[in-house]
Amino acid sequence: MADGDAVDWRGLNRANWDDRVPVHLASEFYNLDGFRAGATSLRPFEAAEAGDVTSKRLVHLQCHIGLDTLSWARNGAQVTGLDFSKPAIDAARSLAADLDIDASFVAAEAYDAVRALGGGRFDVVYTGTGALVWLPDIPRWAGVVATLLQPGGFLYLVEAHPYAQILDDAQGSRIIRDYFDDQPKIEDCPYTYTDGPALQHTHSVQHQHQLGKIVTALASAGLQIDFLNEHDFDCYPRFQSLERHEGQYRFPVGRPRIPMMFSLRASSPV
Ligand SMILES: C[S@@+](CC[C@H](N)C(=O)[O-])C[C@H]1O[C@@H](n2cnc3c(N)ncnc32)[C@H](O)[C@@H]1O
Repeated sequence: MADGDAVDWRGLNRANWDDRVPVHLASEFYNLDGFRAGATSLRPFEAAEAGDVTSKRLVHLQCHIGLDTLSWARNGAQVTGLDFSKPAIDAARSLAADLDIDASFVAAEAYDAVRALGGGRFDVVYTGTGALVWLPDIPRWAGVVATLLQPGGFLYLVEAHPYAQILDDAQGSRIIRDYFDDQPKIEDCPYTYTDGPALQHTHSVQHQHQLGKIVTALASAGLQIDFLNEHDFDCYPRFQSLERHEGQYRFPVGRPRIPMMFSLRASSPV
């Protein structure tokens, strides 16, 4: 397989993500036991940047197994999670029921979110790390986000920084990918990013999106950019050279820093 346009990207990706669900549920990375015991899965800066979500209607696009969605619920939001993987949505529903957390979960394609959510409007649209690489068309995604927001509502997006994604995996010091190459990439990887056994459906199709294109797509969809923060840490060990400090992965002290994540808030006009 060489050409991402000629393959069924949605079918390949869904099979790949369906396979990852049981692996993630059993992984140390997602630490379900800790979550069940009350731990949040949100990074400390997320709650601070998003502000008080009490009683806000929040939809989490590409919610995976629902940990971040349910963490927003624990912070007081009225939450809905959406993901195209039925096993992921089943797991999220079951976790919400076990923990007696009020939450809705919908199995649907991100581009179909407006219809799948019944035309509902939200105060907050949240999307967390590792989501946008799975979507081929960022302007179309931005249009979905803008439609889901009620006037005065906002998108809160936390993502891997595209600059970090072009560096070598060992040291994160050499540029080995083209920042401006936005052609779909067929990946064949037997493992997911957590600990755990090999997958059966190993192929996926991913897209790298430049930071400028993401911001421009949101502005073109009518949203106002409130902030764009770049972070000098990651929430997983992207490079082997990273060191863990209080749940964040950073370069050793003294090494010049690069952006590894970014977070952005964009508001719908009142
Ligand atoms: C890396 S995960 C998001 C992870 C989340 N931040 C977390 O750590 O739990 C990406 C999610 O996007 C979902 N996904 C990928 N492509 C999608 C699409 N086209 N529509 C809806 N969901 C999609 C996958 O099923 C997966 O659950």
